[in-house]
Amino acid sequence: MIKNTVNTFRKMKAEGNKIVMITSYDAVTAKIAYEAGADLLLVGDSMANAILGYSNTIALSLEESMFHVQAVRRGAPDAFVVADMPFMTFQNSMEKAIDNAAMYLQKCGADAVKIEGGLSILPVMQKMVECGIPVMAHIGLLPQKVLTSGGYKLSGKTEEDAKRLLEEAIAVQQAGAFSVVLECMPENIGRMISENIEIPTIGIGGGKFCDGQVQVLTDVLGIGDFLPKHAKRYAECGSIMREAIKNYVNDVKNGNFPEEKNCF
Ligand code: KIV
Repeated sequence: MIKNTVNTFRKMKAEGNKIVMITSYDAVTAKIAYEAGADLLLVGDSMANAILGYSNTIALSLEESMFHVQAVRRGAPDAFVVADMPFMTFQNSMEKAIDNAAMYLQKCGADAVKIEGGLSILPVMQKMVECGIPVMAHIGLLPQKVLTSGGYKLSGKTEEDAKRLLEEAIAVQQAGAFSVVLECMPENIGRMISENIEIPTIGIGGGKFCDGQVQVLTDVLGIGDFLPKHAKRYAECGSIMREAIKNYVNDVKNGNFPEEKNCF
């Protein structure tokens, strides 16, 4: 299979082919997601809550994130891998931001980075692209701003906010982003943005008119207790895993494991 590039996704939008992105945080699930046909793997900072036990994405460090990007790359050598830059790894110093983004490409094998934010991070986005670093933008609900926004809130609810979102989408396109995540906004706003920019929009709670969708792996698999409104469970892997481990525990306790075939 030919490896996807940033051009693949523009072409998919132009031809009306939906783009599918899913998060992945380790080699095992990266291989499975790639083989299942996902077009891009996002090593999201959602790993903080999805698999690392943090209560939000603020605590995630650059080192933790890089460790997981490396694992995803090892598991899916031919996948298009996007590294999601954690909180404060790109916001407060242009030089640090470029160095950190470059490390994802050079030391972790990522194909692109994703950075959260609109107008405030345009200069850094533009500089990354000028340096040759493909950037995926992310506007709408910004989980890395949860402490200042006071919660995870729908964006684009007022006419003024919707206008701002469109301005941001146009601005990130002009800054050179190859695509943009639209998180949690009314479907008509997701549609309006998707129809008014050339780069692909990838929705998560952005409605069905986005050029693609992204979902968090653990939501899709049914691992974890909370399911956001924008997510859909395609399996109940949490229950399956619990049951399997329970059966193993019982077998050992009852002397039914190991069996003869398991012994040397
Ligand atoms: O970290 C993540 O999983 C994300 C998606 C919600 C787009 O940023």
